[in-house]
Amino acid sequence: MGFSFHVQGRPEVDSDLCTGCGQCVAICPDQIYTLENRKARPGQGVFLGCIACGHCVAVCPVGAIAVTGRGMTADDRRPLPDPASRATAESLENLLLARRSIRKYQDREVEREKLDRILAAAAAAPMGIPPSDVHVLVFSNRQQVRAFTAASMEAFRRMNRMLGSWIFKLLSLRTSKAEKEIMRDFIAPLMRALVEYYDAGEDIYTYNAPAALLFHHGPHGDKSEIAIAATYAMLAAESLGLGSCMIGSSEAFNHDSMLKQHYGIPKEHKVGMALLIGYPAVKFHHALHRRLGSVRFAE
Ligand SMILES: Cc1cc2nc3c(=O)[nH]c(=O)nc-3n(C[C@H](O)[C@H](O)[C@H](O)COP(=O)(O)O)c2cc1C
Repeated sequence: MGFSFHVQGRPEVDSDLCTGCGQCVAICPDQIYTLENRKARPGQGVFLGCIACGHCVAVCPVGAIAVTGRGMTADDRRPLPDPASRATAESLENLLLARRSIRKYQDREVEREKLDRILAAAAAAPMGIPPSDVHVLVFSNRQQVRAFTAASMEAFRRMNRMLGSWIFKLLSLRTSKAEKEIMRDFIAPLMRALVEYYDAGEDIYTYNAPAALLFHHGPHGDKSEIAIAATYAMLAAESLGLGSCMIGSSEAFNHDSMLKQHYGIPKEHKVGMALLIGYPAVKFHHALHRRLGSVRFAE
């Protein structure tokens, strides 16, 4: 979607319902609300104005507030799930521990209902400033994923040719040493390998997955928001008995305007990653303990 900062949400208070409890006044990060005659009243705010974060809607105990605009509608308020029905720390930890990236899939399609639930989970992810400018192109069956893979391989071939050209060498004079190294030692060999394996009949790009979500963001979004939405989707897939794998090499999309155009991805959008989804054809018998690069508690 991607709204400019000049477009504000429109908060409205039903003063017949408002009890003047002041919770909207306390929670609004932009201090939009004041209490007048024991009724909440939305005003201009102190910084950006209403960004439609929806916290006033969610905190109002009597449902007196609706916000419209910036991607929000008046019926976006939903019942809060009962605490007893939510994931416990233990069930969440077990889900995280049991999840593995899946690169081998059963010969079975993913049900539309499950894809919809995964997309709903991705939509629940936090974003820097609402509304979300994360977009998803859904490949909902194997045929579509295969076509996507074939089109990507054509793009990788074009890029491989470009990498060897004098124009690229001239352009790369302006890139940093680290960028040159990443291109020479990682991206170029990766693209060559993906194409070589593909030509030999092995798909090490989308692993013959039955479904894939291609995440891209507009000018008001960024890569980290894609990573968060894709992570939510990944965990939702796991909870539905599906396996998934993030594919960062889809970022190569950004270097090939023909591929973007073919899939109707706007020129100014950036592709962040693809998330492959399918029923796993591999069964793990152990979990793995993982470590972060480092953890330090500040003194
Ligand atoms: C941002 C990101 C990009 C990734 N890109 C690829 C990829 O292009 N191809 C692939 O096979 N796996 C890819 N992976 C999967 C990782 O290789 C995988 O997470 C890692 O091997 C650890 O395995 P685990 O997810 O089972 O813990 C990616 C993962 C992340 C987080």
